[in-house]
Amino acid sequence: MAAKPVTSFVCSACGARTAKWSGRCDACGEWNTISEEKPLSAGPGAKSLGARRGNAVALGDLSTDEAPPPRTTSALSELDRVLGGGLVPGSASLVGGDPGIGKSTLLLQAAAAFAQAGLKTVYVSGEEASAQVRMRAGRLGLKGAPVQLAAETNLRNILTTLEAEKPDLAIVDSIQTMWLDTVEAAPGSVSQVRAAAHELTTFAKRTGTAVILVGHVTKDGQIAGPRVVEHMVDTVLYFEGERGHQFRILRAVKNRFGPADEIGVFEMTGRGLTEVANPSALFLGDRDSSTPGAAVFAGIEGTRPMLVEIQALVAPTPHAQPRRSVVGWDGQRLAMILAVLESRCGVPFTGLDVYLNVAGGMKITEPAADLAVAAALLSAREDSALPQASVVFGEISLSGALRPVSQAENRLKEAAKLGFTSAIAPTASKALSVPGMSIMTMSDLTAFVGDVFGAG
Ligand code: TYD
Ligand code: MG
Repeated sequence: MAAKPVTSFVCSACGARTAKWSGRCDACGEWNTISEEKPLSAGPGAKSLGARRGNAVALGDLSTDEAPPPRTTSALSELDRVLGGGLVPGSASLVGGDPGIGKSTLLLQAAAAFAQAGLKTVYVSGEEASAQVRMRAGRLGLKGAPVQLAAETNLRNILTTLEAEKPDLAIVDSIQTMWLDTVEAAPGSVSQVRAAAHELTTFAKRTGTAVILVGHVTKDGQIAGPRVVEHMVDTVLYFEGERGHQFRILRAVKNRFGPADEIGVFEMTGRGLTEVANPSALFLGDRDSSTPGAAVFAGIEGTRPMLVEIQALVAPTPHAQPRRSVVGWDGQRLAMILAVLESRCGVPFTGLDVYLNVAGGMKITEPAADLAVAAALLSAREDSALPQASVVFGEISLSGALRPVSQAENRLKEAAKLGFTSAIAPTASKALSVPGMSIMTMSDLTAFVGDVFGAG
């Protein structure tokens, strides 16, 4: 038998294991994140199963009628939406986000909301003293909420408490501060985070207590600690937003009980987070539609249509290598659209700096925004505004063809609701009719350049 590898160096940023120490992690490129750790005793590969046989497991067919999980909804309907329609008993969720973005604020408000909805709720803070949490509760106007509070980091004590109290919901802020005395590693290390998350998720499954864990993210936006934590939990939510903006977006990136990619929109105010019921109005703000270089994208976030403004600025560059700067969208995708505009439509951007920004601190990942990006770029380059009160959507292929996108009708309806009267869309949307909307359809980007901007 081959000798078993004793790999005892782990990167605290990405969880990669190596056989020897180095200053920089080969897997994620972070510096000074590799440290030595004792392997978990029961880790895979620790011991071969050998000839000893296990117990037979009962097998069942697929036809058993399992009722959908009972859910509890709270006064925070944006949170309920992201969870897939309320909190599921026995579920384990992870809420990740940058430090200071508002995770503790959100979860204290969530604790109060679910407690007021009748759930027995325990909030464990490993980062702040009880007095600090109480002060925040006071500031948020939640003093009267029946939430049970503890400040503790020893997971053995926490589990014993939860075992005795049997709450419906336990919130642990944050998983990086928790430690188990059975694991010989510092709190926040990969082994501790993994072991703590494992203990808490198995506790949730075993007892039916819903558990919500808070997780910090690293510089490159991943939840600190091993990726395996994301696999252990049922739901992974990211709380994101730009520091300078009030808007905060809670995004489901994984959900075993509902659709992923669902978002909830909040605004950070002096008295905590308030829900934003009409995000399109918020993201469009007080825009001036006669300015060149701006296009309104009719997008879909999760199950909800959402309008956002895409802004472009194009200026002659003093540099040999022109700048391509993007906020809120994918830089690779911008490069692709610039290449298509240049080689398929004869609109070069050589010698021009290009800046692209999604207004309001929103991040867009949909390819359906391609045409809106192209429209903003062309409008900036030609210094000519797009048609008044129009929205744009459509995916651009490398050939320059416009590809249909999902949920075109919902996009148009949302635009009509917010006072837009025309839309520029791929040909596939021709058959749609939405009251108050005139729909300009085109089959490729060249037609768009010709129809909207006269020439190239
Ligand atoms: P916090 O919830 O502590 O962030 P996290 O747990 O993600 O680190 O929020 C910290 C920020 O939120 C802090 O900069 C102050 C701001 N804040 C408000 O603007 N209004 C409020 O009512 C509260 C409680 C915090
Ligand atoms: Mg916090």
